[in-house]
Amino acid sequence: MYEFAVTAESKPSRYDDLFAALDALTDGEPDPIANMANAAALLWQYLPELNWAGFYRMIGDELVLGPFQGKAACIRIALGRGVCGTAAAERRTQLVEDVHAFPGHIACDAASRSELVVPIVHEGRLLGVLDLDSPSPARFDADDARGCERLVALLAPRLAG
Ligand code: SME
Repeated sequence: MYEFAVTAESKPSRYDDLFAALDALTDGEPDPIANMANAAALLWQYLPELNWAGFYRMIGDELVLGPFQGKAACIRIALGRGVCGTAAAERRTQLVEDVHAFPGHIACDAASRSELVVPIVHEGRLLGVLDLDSPSPARFDADDARGCERLVALLAPRLAG
C-alpha cells in the first residue's frame, strides 16, 4: 500500500511534496505506463481544482491518449492541434488561462476553463505531453508551470522505456 498525505500549505511546498512522492514511486521502475499511471494519480491527489490530469504519448506522428484521471478524453491529437498538439509541436509549455480564447482548443470535457500542458522530451526525443485541465479560469500560474516542468524532468528518463 502506498499512502501519501497532502499537508503542504503553499503551492511551491505542495510541488516539493509531489516531487518527492513521484520520485519514490517511480524510482527503479522502468515501465512507462506504470509510471504515467502513478504520476496521474499523484497529480490528481495533490493538486486542487482539476478536472483532468494525465498524459498523451507521442506514437508515430500523433499524440495518443495515455494514463489519466478524469473523464474519458479524445484519443488521438495531431501535432500542432489544440493545446496539447501545440505544446508537442513547439516543445514548449502552454499555460492557457482561458481555453475558449485558445485557437483550436479541443474540448474533451466542456467543464474545462484553463489548461497547462508540458512537453516531455528525453535526449532530444519527444515522448509526449503532460496535460492538466481545470474547471476554474486562470487556475494555473508560473509556479504551476515550474512545478510541472520539474516533475516532467524527473519523469522523462523513467518514461523512455
Ligand atoms: N484540451 C486539450 C485536449 C486534451 S483534453 O483536455 C484531455 C487540447 O486542446 O489539446
